[in-house]
Amino acid sequence: MLDQVQSLKEEIQEYQVANDQELESFRLKFISRKGVVSQLFEGIKDAPVEDRKKLGISLNELKNAAQARFQYLISDLNNTPQTGEVDHKDLTLPARSTELGGVHPLSATWERIIEIFGRLGFNVSEGPEIEDDWHNFTALNFPPNHPAREMQDTFFIEKNPDVALRTHTSNVQIRIMENNKPPIRTLSPGRVFRNEAISARAHCIFHQYEILYVDENVGFVDLKQTLYHFAKEMFGKNVKIRFRPSYFPFTEPSAEIDISCLICHGKGCNICKHTGWVEIGGSGMVDPNVLENCGIDSQKYTGYAAGLGIERTTMLKYGINDLRLFTQNDVRFLKQFRSLGF
Ligand code: DAH
Repeated sequence: MLDQVQSLKEEIQEYQVANDQELESFRLKFISRKGVVSQLFEGIKDAPVEDRKKLGISLNELKNAAQARFQYLISDLNNTPQTGEVDHKDLTLPARSTELGGVHPLSATWERIIEIFGRLGFNVSEGPEIEDDWHNFTALNFPPNHPAREMQDTFFIEKNPDVALRTHTSNVQIRIMENNKPPIRTLSPGRVFRNEAISARAHCIFHQYEILYVDENVGFVDLKQTLYHFAKEMFGKNVKIRFRPSYFPFTEPSAEIDISCLICHGKGCNICKHTGWVEIGGSGMVDPNVLENCGIDSQKYTGYAAGLGIERTTMLKYGINDLRLFTQNDVRFLKQFRSLGF
């Protein structure tokens, strides 16, 4: 009888089924009350007393093996489409969607700026984010004790007063003028750093784009015309732009550039501080001292420069009222810009 149990065990281990009928045959043969295993249990009482215990143990093992194999055969059958039979997949279920990434709104603006100025003949240049005092301040005509050099604005590196994270992209102006002869027409987008509290309007890490044009007979009218054109291309023909007299050490005369608030359309909001105008940057005629610092003859050449904020530009373009949204990586925000492309 033990031999019989052993050969049944082997049969069970190797049993395969191809469909529900064959599964049922397995059940009838090994699991059901009338099956072989039950019959063998019946036979225990006829076996010699000394063999009964051993027999009981191996029959229980056989029963468990049959149960386990039965469960295995059920799941195997459910997972394998049966040839010639209907596959039980629900073809009406919606397909699993593949999440597509999108261009970050700041990247889209960055590329659009390059495109607009590119058509005006500006090339793209970049400079280092870790900068020395000369390129970030001194060559730009900052007087030795100018407040912008102090700790509250500038992130210095390892307490070395000569090495800092650049506070603006104007450092690239210097590097370009030092290494190129006029005519120079360049656009320098990049990341800048300032030790400022983070709010809806300001961040300690943000992006600027610097515009520099140096040639003979460049005048303020060229600056105005270029920025008028840029504003209309970027924000649409109904945008208004104004120049406010201002001061920067590296330009003379200097002007701040305001754009009509496209977030509240003049109704008043926290971004335009209820004035209807948003400042997007500064500009002016390159100070002759700066040209000379870079080895350019200020008698022969003049130039204009401007530095604008990419975050501000993007906020105005898309009506975003909090700059912190750009860095929070909230997909509900980012998803809204999926249609943007380069
Ligand atoms: N560098 C200035 C800033 O970060 C912005 C600026 C003003 C850049 C006037 C210029 C300029 O090129 O001409 O606030």
